[in-house]
Amino acid sequence: MQALLEFAREVREGLGKPGQKELPSKYLYDELGTALFEAITVLPEYGLTRAGDRLLRRYSPDILERLPPPVVVAELGSGSGRKTRWILEALARREPVTYFPIDLSASALVRCEQGLADLPSISVVGLEVPYLDGIRQASSRRRRDQTLLVLFLGSNIGNFDRPAADVFLLELRQCMKPGDALLLATDLEKPVADLILAYDDPAGVTAAFNLNLLGRINRELGGDFVLRNFAHEARWNAKERRIEMHLRSTRKQTVTIRAAEFTCTLGEGETIWTEACHKYRVEEIPGMATRAGFVCEAQWVDGEWPFAENLWIAASPPPANA
Ligand code: AVI
Repeated sequence: MQALLEFAREVREGLGKPGQKELPSKYLYDELGTALFEAITVLPEYGLTRAGDRLLRRYSPDILERLPPPVVVAELGSGSGRKTRWILEALARREPVTYFPIDLSASALVRCEQGLADLPSISVVGLEVPYLDGIRQASSRRRRDQTLLVLFLGSNIGNFDRPAADVFLLELRQCMKPGDALLLATDLEKPVADLILAYDDPAGVTAAFNLNLLGRINRELGGDFVLRNFAHEARWNAKERRIEMHLRSTRKQTVTIRAAEFTCTLGEGETIWTEACHKYRVEEIPGMATRAGFVCEAQWVDGEWPFAENLWIAASPPPANA
């Protein structure tokens, strides 16, 4: 009930903004949205997931070589556990592994446990709490001699605004001890045409993923969006170096959302901004690490789809609040 009230409040705020209307991207991921995102990850045009997978398959032993045993692993967001498998398998060859996937979705944690059930000598301890609470719990449950390796894969950091990413990474650092590690995946800048295709695929899967946000508002908040009156749009914002997903109103229309006690009018061509996907340059990553109180120890870049796995080590002493 609380979550629904919060959803209604955020929808009212976002659509009631003067100027650019917005909806928070976290609401893209209901059950249908999560399934559509899974489909996106196998689209030929969306190279991110395969690049991350290639890097971890190839370099997990090198990554772990830089971390003295014993190591415990925590992951921000658990997904299906697919991308994490390579690290866990490589670590299990060296020592018994405890893995803490952290996710607000109970069903995601169950999927993750099921996805990794075939791996022997790995104990999976799902934490159904917000990210930073999960890191604090994982950190406090480890033995004193264990190094914490935090995984933030899939370039999920790219969905934060740059200043918000800095704040989040600093807060994360404050939950960790000197010598702990963060493996941070970042999608890199690439030709705009490739990016537009990745976020506006010809099969229309990303369009369905984006439009489902309006469908979700209809289902959960009693909205009356007519999905056919909106078109998916992916734009490159060169100044902010990000892809922005929008939903463009194809006609003048009025929409009512009962549970939010809210009505708004959209002009023909007006858009609702639904997601930002920031792209990085390899050389800016060490500076991000320093600002957050880490040292960028190593970077691995995919040769096919520019994408980097970055290993950061928590420096001592931790920085003061941002
Ligand atoms: C989850 N996140 C890293 C994806 C991205 O590429 O920013 C979400 C996504 N949106 C559209 N396609 C994929």
